[in-house]
Amino acid sequence: MDTKKLDIEAITLLQQAPETEPERQYFFMEELKKWYQAQVERLKRPLTFSVQTFGCQMNAKDSEKLAGILKTVGYEEVEGENADFVLYNTCTVRENANTRVYGRIGYLGNLKKKNPEMKIAMCGCMMQEAHVVEKIKKSYRFVDLIFGTHNIYKLAELLYLRIHGPKMVIDILESTEQIVEELPSERKFQFKEGVNIMYGCNNFCSYCIVPYVRGRERSRRPEDIIEEMQKLAAAGVTEIMLLGQNVNSYGKTLAQPVSFAELLKMAEKVEGIRRIRFMTPHPKDLSDEVIEVMKHSEKICHHVHLPMQSGSSRVLKVMNRKYTKESYLALVERIKEAMPDVALTTDIIVGFPGETEEDFEDTLDVVRKARFSSAYTFLYSKRTGTPAASMPDQVPDEVAKERFNRLLAVVQEISAELAEADTGKVVEVLVEERNAQDASLMTGRMANNLLVHFPGDEELLGQYVKVSLNECKGFYYIGERVK
Ligand code: SAH
Ligand code: SF4
Ligand code: F3S
Repeated sequence: MDTKKLDIEAITLLQQAPETEPERQYFFMEELKKWYQAQVERLKRPLTFSVQTFGCQMNAKDSEKLAGILKTVGYEEVEGENADFVLYNTCTVRENANTRVYGRIGYLGNLKKKNPEMKIAMCGCMMQEAHVVEKIKKSYRFVDLIFGTHNIYKLAELLYLRIHGPKMVIDILESTEQIVEELPSERKFQFKEGVNIMYGCNNFCSYCIVPYVRGRERSRRPEDIIEEMQKLAAAGVTEIMLLGQNVNSYGKTLAQPVSFAELLKMAEKVEGIRRIRFMTPHPKDLSDEVIEVMKHSEKICHHVHLPMQSGSSRVLKVMNRKYTKESYLALVERIKEAMPDVALTTDIIVGFPGETEEDFEDTLDVVRKARFSSAYTFLYSKRTGTPAASMPDQVPDEVAKERFNRLLAVVQEISAELAEADTGKVVEVLVEERNAQDASLMTGRMANNLLVHFPGDEELLGQYVKVSLNECKGFYYIGERVK
C-alpha cells in the first residue's frame, strides 16, 4: 500500500494505532466516527452505504462484517447503489460472476459523477486476481478502495487511509494465517445466521479458483464457534448454518484437532438453537460418524448438500475430486439408510474439458439413482490459473448447452416427483420472509430446505409454525397454517 501520500494527521495517527487486531480496527472506527460526525454537520444529512453481495454464503457473511463496521462508524444502510459508499463484494467462481461486476462498475462511475461524496470499494474474491486489479486500476480510476478476501476486517483502516491520502487505496494480501474475529457484524436476518467454522480450501479441484482466492484451509477454534453460536442464540437466532468450503476437514489443522462430527455434537448443545445446517461437505470425506450424529440429532436438519460435480469416475479423477461414481453412490446409500427422510441436493458441472457423451450419461445415471431433491447445474467455466483451463479438448459451447438442458430436464422431473410425494403432509417451517410476488403470503423454510408459501402476516417472521403442503408447484409448495 502507498502510505507516502498520507497527510500529517494520518501519519501521526498510524504511529499511535495499536498493532494487535481487532483492537487496531476499533481504534480506526473511533477515528472514523469523528470524521463521520463532521461530514453530517457539513452536509446536514447522514451518509449512506450499500454492500452488494455477488457470491456464496461465505461472501454474504463477509458482507455482514463490512456492514457492521460501517454501521458502527455511523453510516446508514440503504438498498440500492444510490449511496455515499457502495461496496461490491465480488465472486469469481464462474466467468459470469465477473461479467456481472464489470457490467455494473461503469454505472457506479456515473453515479459518482452526480454525487461528489460517493466512495466506491471493490473487495472479495475477484480482487485476489492480479489481472482484475490491473484492469480496475487502468479502466476504472474512480474506484476508491480495492481489497481482497484476507483483509475484509481492515475496512475501517483502509477507509481512514483513503480519506487522508491517495485517491485509490489498494490492499491485497496474497495469503494469511490470521483469523480476525470479534468485529461488529450486521445480520441480514434476525432469526437465522451463518457461522464460519473454517476459511480457505486445500482441495484444488482442477476447475476451481476458490483455493487461489481464499487461501489455505484455516479452522476456527471450537470454543470460538460455540461462543458465537451462544451469542447469536441470546440475540434471538434459532437457525445456524455452519459454513466452510469443505466442512468435513474441519479441525484438522488445529493445535488440538477436533473432528467435524465432534463440532456438530458441541453445536447441538447450544441452548436456544433449534435448527443446525452445514455447507459444504465434500463427498470424499463425509464420515460415517457425521452421518451417525445427524441420524440421532434433534437439531441437525436432515438435508445434505453433497456436490457431485460429475457422475463419471474418469472425469472425477481429472477434476481431482478423489471419489468415484461408485463410491459417491455408496455414500448416498449410507446417508439414505441412516436417514430415510433425508433431502439430498447437489452441484453438477456440465462440459468439463474432455467430457464425452458417455461421461455425461454417467452423470445422468447418478442423478437418476441418487434422486436429488434439487441440483444446482453449471456450465463449466474456464478459470485462468486453474489446471483445467489449459486442458485439451475443451467442450464446444453448443455441446455443453445441449447436455445442460438434458440434465436440467431430468433434475427437474425428479425434484417434482419428490416434492409431489410430500403433498398433503403437515410440516414445521421457520417463517423467513414476506413473499415478494404476493404480499398476502409468507414464506417458510422446511427442515429439508424446501419453501412453502402460505397466507399469514409479518408477526410470524422468525417463528416456527405448522403448515400443510396443499399444492406442489414443482420445487415449492402453496400451503396453509394448521394449529
Ligand atoms: N466447496 C464446494 C463448492 C464451492 S463452489 C465444494 O467442493 O463442493 C460452488 C460450486 O460452483 C461447485 O460445487 C461447482 O459445482 C461450481 N463451480 C466451481 N468452479 C466452477 C467452474 N470453473 N465452472 C463451473 N462451475 C464451477
Ligand atoms: Fe473448489 Fe473443490 Fe475447494 Fe470446493 S473443494 S472450493 S470445488 S477446490
Ligand atoms: Fe464464494 Fe465466489 Fe469466492 S463462490 S468463495 S464468493 S469465488
